[in-house]
Amino acid sequence: MRLKNETAIITGSTTGIGRKLAELLLKEGCKVTICSRTESKVKEALSELKEQFGDSVIGFPCDVNKSKDLKKIVDKTVEAFGSVRILIANAGLNTVYGPFEYLTPEMVESYAKTIISTNLMGVMNSISAVLPQMYKQKYGRIITTSGGGADRPLDNMTIYSASKGGVVTFSKCLALELAAKDEDVKINIFQPGMIKTALMSNVKYVPNEKNKQEIEENLELVLHYIGGDLEKSCSKVIPYIIPKTKSNGKAFRGFSLPKLIFNAMKLQRVMKKRKVS
Ligand SMILES: NC(=O)c1ccc[n+]([C@@H]2O[C@H](COP(=O)([O-])OP(=O)(O)OC[C@H]3O[C@@H](n4cnc5c(N)ncnc54)[C@H](OP(=O)(O)O)[C@@H]3O)[C@@H](O)[C@H]2O)c1
Repeated sequence: MRLKNETAIITGSTTGIGRKLAELLLKEGCKVTICSRTESKVKEALSELKEQFGDSVIGFPCDVNKSKDLKKIVDKTVEAFGSVRILIANAGLNTVYGPFEYLTPEMVESYAKTIISTNLMGVMNSISAVLPQMYKQKYGRIITTSGGGADRPLDNMTIYSASKGGVVTFSKCLALELAAKDEDVKINIFQPGMIKTALMSNVKYVPNEKNKQEIEENLELVLHYIGGDLEKSCSKVIPYIIPKTKSNGKAFRGFSLPKLIFNAMKLQRVMKKRKVS
C-alpha cells in the first residue's frame, strides 16, 4: 500500500478517469473525497465505492467554477480525514467539436466560457482552495490533467486544446513558485492519452450534427488504434503523489509514446484505404 495515511481530493471523480483514479488511490490505502456537479452521480459513485472501501471515501456535489463549493470540499475533507495531502484537479469537459471557422462569435463566447472556465479556471480555483491547507501541513502533492492539443496542434478541438495548453503553462509556472518555498508542495501534470469516456457525449458537432455519425465512426477507429487502457493510464499517477517523489513541474504520460506513434502510423494507413475505397 503506497498511499497509507494519505488523504486526497479528486475533482470530477464520478465517472471516467477521475473515478478510476479514486478507485486506485483507495486500493493503495488513501482516504479519498470524490466530487462532481451532479448530485445523483455523486450518490451513485459514492455508494459503489463505499461497498468496497467503507468510510475511506466521502463525496459531495461540487462545481469547480465555484470557489465556495471548493472551500466546502476542503473543509469537509479536513473534518473527516484531518488533512488534504493530495489534490488531483481532474474535472474537465468539452462541448464542441469541429473547425473553428464554423463557430459564430456568439458560439465562441459561449463555448469558450464553459470550456475554459471549467478546464482552466477550474484547475486554478481547485488549487487555490487547497493550497492554504497544504502550506499549513507543510506538505502537498498536486496533479493537474492535461489533454489533447496541449503539447501539439490538434484540429477540431481548438478551444479545448487552448484550455489544456493553459493548464500545462499554469502548472509549470506554479511549480517554480512552489520550488522556491520551504514547504514540500509539488505539482505535476498528467497526460492520460486518448481514453474512451463520457467526455465526448455532450459535444455539439459543427458545422452541423450530420457530421456526428461519421465523426463517431472515425473516433471508434482512432480509439481502436491509439486508445489507451483506463486503469493502466491512471496507475501512472501514483508515483507522482507519493511522499518521496522528487518531480515538480513535470508533464508525464499515461501511455507509451513510441507505441502511440507506431499505432498512429497504422491508423493513417487504414484511414487512407477507407478514403480510397
Ligand atoms: N478521455 C480522454 O481521452 C482524455 C484525454 C486527455 C485528458 N482528459 C481529461 O481528463 C479529465 C477527465 O475526463 P474524462 O475523460 O474522464 O471525462 P468524463 O468521464 O466526462 O469525466 C469528467 C468528470 O468531470 C466532472 N465535471 C465536469 N465539469 C465539472 C465541473 N464544472 N465541476 C466539477 N466536476 C465537473 C463530471 O461530472 P459532472 O458532469 O457531474 O460534473 C465527471 O465526473 C478531463 O479534464 C479531460 O479533459 C481526457
